[in-house]
Amino acid sequence: MRTQVAIIGAGPSGLLLGQLLYKAGIDNIIIERQSGEYVLGRIRAGILEQVTMDLVDQAGVGQRMHEEGLVHEGIELLFGGQRHRIDLSALTDGKKVMVYGQTELTRDLMQARQDAGLTTYYSAANVRVHGFDGQTPSVTFEHEGQSHTLECDFIAGCDGFHGVCRASVPQGAITEYEKVYPFGWLGLLSDTPPVSDELIYANTPRGFALCSQRSLTRSRYYLQVPLSDKVENWSDDAFWAELRKRLDGEANERLVTGASLEKSIAPLRSFVAEPLRFGRMFLAGDAGHIVPPTGAKGLNLAASDVAYLSQGFIEYYSEKSQAGLDHYSQRALARIWKAERFSWWFTSMMHHFPEEGAFGQRMQEAELAYLVQSHAASTALAENYVGLPMQAR
Ligand code: FAD
Ligand code: DHB
Repeated sequence: MRTQVAIIGAGPSGLLLGQLLYKAGIDNIIIERQSGEYVLGRIRAGILEQVTMDLVDQAGVGQRMHEEGLVHEGIELLFGGQRHRIDLSALTDGKKVMVYGQTELTRDLMQARQDAGLTTYYSAANVRVHGFDGQTPSVTFEHEGQSHTLECDFIAGCDGFHGVCRASVPQGAITEYEKVYPFGWLGLLSDTPPVSDELIYANTPRGFALCSQRSLTRSRYYLQVPLSDKVENWSDDAFWAELRKRLDGEANERLVTGASLEKSIAPLRSFVAEPLRFGRMFLAGDAGHIVPPTGAKGLNLAASDVAYLSQGFIEYYSEKSQAGLDHYSQRALARIWKAERFSWWFTSMMHHFPEEGAFGQRMQEAELAYLVQSHAASTALAENYVGLPMQAR
């Protein structure tokens, strides 16, 4: 079996890359460890930047996103018991973000791939990448009891943080930067109307809380919890009771509670691998970097990696130019590090760090007070939140 680009992983990076390459006439096969239903069952990100929306349009799968997605022009910061609106659009010459769940985007991409008759191996076992440091890379895997070898020109490692691609790089060839936070996010999804039209990011002495949403009838809420906490310890009632303690009076009046559709704890981590290219293998999305979720950059960074990488492949096949592929790692990392900085800063300002004590809490509140009073500081938040521009080269 042979293809031009073998894509490992059918998360948003792999599916989006596959669709963009297909549109450009570049043959690709995706190999995914999990089943399609499992991939669709993972509840993750919910906010798309303009850069991501543009790419989804370019991939030809934007119709439902535009019909059902909710355009947001601001966010609210809650601290010291008061809410303050950050007018993202006014501060960024009209830029906006879109509320559209990763699950929905994944579903649209899976459907488009199926409609185009493209090959995806789901539930593949023992996926291994070979020969990427030479001219003849290949991927081996098992599927429905049969062993397969896929020969290819390039391997795209879109297999997430725990994937096989980064793990297959010799240790001396890669540098990893990491910060692990001492807490996680407990998320709850419910078919209840959102508590507010816009997202509320709350800094409280009891810890961070986020009121997000997936639609006008579906809400997503998060609570900062210690890493030692277990999801089994959190009944729905306990979740709602704790959320109430972290919200203001008006939000408490409007909060509609209900049964959870999903509840899970995600640890928070900052991580970057350098470089993102190893001969004929490229890393994209969570395979190469992780941000803590505050500010919703994870999925959007995956999309900007894919924008640069797909451009590199398109230049290679249509113009016989290696320039885009040669520049991929450096271009992608320039944007990644800025998003890492923003996510780390927003996380540091909004979460409760017990070891920082009451002084730390006051520093955060002073920074937040400055942020909402200063046009310059609000603009810095807004321009990062809506997404920094892509670099031409
Ligand atoms: P993934 O979505 O991880 O996809 C990688 C795919 O590769 C998976 O389908 C995996 O099964 C497959 N794979 C792994 N190993 C192999 C292998 N050996 N062989 C074949 N396939 C393999 N971001 C936000 O912006 N907001 C959020 O609220 C948010 N919440 C998150 C919650 C969790 C629990 C996690 C893990 C991430 C969250 N993120 C969030 C981050 C965001 O979801 C990711 O940045 C995004 O999914 C990255 O997409 P990806 O395709 O690069 O990686
Ligand atoms: C969501 C997650 C985020 O990390 C964020 O900053 C905003 C929204 C969400 O899952 O809806």
